[in-house]
Amino acid sequence: MTIRVGMLQSRVRVEEKLLAEELVARGVELVRFDDREFTLDLAAPDPAFTSCNVILERCINHLRALYTLRVLNDWGIPTVNRYEVAEVCGDKMLTTSALIRAGVPTPRTMIAYTEESGIRAIEEMGYPVVLKPAVGSWGRLLSRVNDRDAAEALLEHKLTLGSFHHGAFYIQEFIEKKGRDIRTFVVDGETICGIYRTSDHWITNTARGAKASNCPITPELDDLSRRAAEAVGGGVVAIDLFETDRGIMVNEVNYTMEFRNSIHTTGVNIPARIVDYVIRLGEGNS
Ligand SMILES: Nc1ncnc2c1ncn2[C@@H]1O[C@H](COP(=O)(O)OP(=O)(O)O)[C@@H](O)[C@H]1O
Ligand SMILES: [Mg+2]
Repeated sequence: MTIRVGMLQSRVRVEEKLLAEELVARGVELVRFDDREFTLDLAAPDPAFTSCNVILERCINHLRALYTLRVLNDWGIPTVNRYEVAEVCGDKMLTTSALIRAGVPTPRTMIAYTEESGIRAIEEMGYPVVLKPAVGSWGRLLSRVNDRDAAEALLEHKLTLGSFHHGAFYIQEFIEKKGRDIRTFVVDGETICGIYRTSDHWITNTARGAKASNCPITPELDDLSRRAAEAVGGGVVAIDLFETDRGIMVNEVNYTMEFRNSIHTTGVNIPARIVDYVIRLGEGNS
């Protein structure tokens, strides 16, 4: 029996193109759902969606992914990833808390809600610190705060100009990570590959110009990556890790990750591995 795989998407990036090609090559029926077009009548499960054995979420916008996954899971449709995974990974506070709960080493992080308590937390941690929006990606709106003048200005700006999510300060110790960090990819409990992201800038996202090179998966990296993935609920995730003088730490866990720079770099066909997993789930629901 042919299984039907839905793909939630918005603008189609390289990643969605590769995933779609891979799905079609496996002979599944691919149905695309564009988040700029569909509507969801919450109490009326839509056969276009419910006829899918599994749905792969590839939205660019976190809120669209989050809400759609909630509805699809409530309609009984298996998704990659599950709503709970998107919820935790989409919010750095929830991710850090889940990592700590699971005993995964992660940089010291404090939360504060007012300018006064924010400054106190920052000074308790000691400069430099990193301030991050709890919801965000591609290294956007991250600040390295080196002194009190900058801290005061940033906190005031966030409270005055920021949206809802800037109302809580996510304050993290600055990690001296020697010009690079590590990104590993975990699919269904298996660490399939990893890259180093090297940059002259302290922000090492490839979207910000860092260079990708192959990172061999050591037993330590494998163990931490799998534990971090499990901590957020499993599925298909990408883990950011720092090499520190206190050992390797997990910085964050990403869902709906981009991977275009990591296929040739690692020699691992990442979209094929994701599709293997999606098809396994679909077959389990046919
Ligand atoms: N605490 C930190 N210390 C040093 N560098 C950091 C720290 N947090 C983030 N960075 C740098 O900034 C990059 C982006 O931060 P990250 O938390 O992964 O947010 P994003 O979701 O935007 O990728 C990281 O890959 C790393 O290079
Ligand atoms: Mg990151």
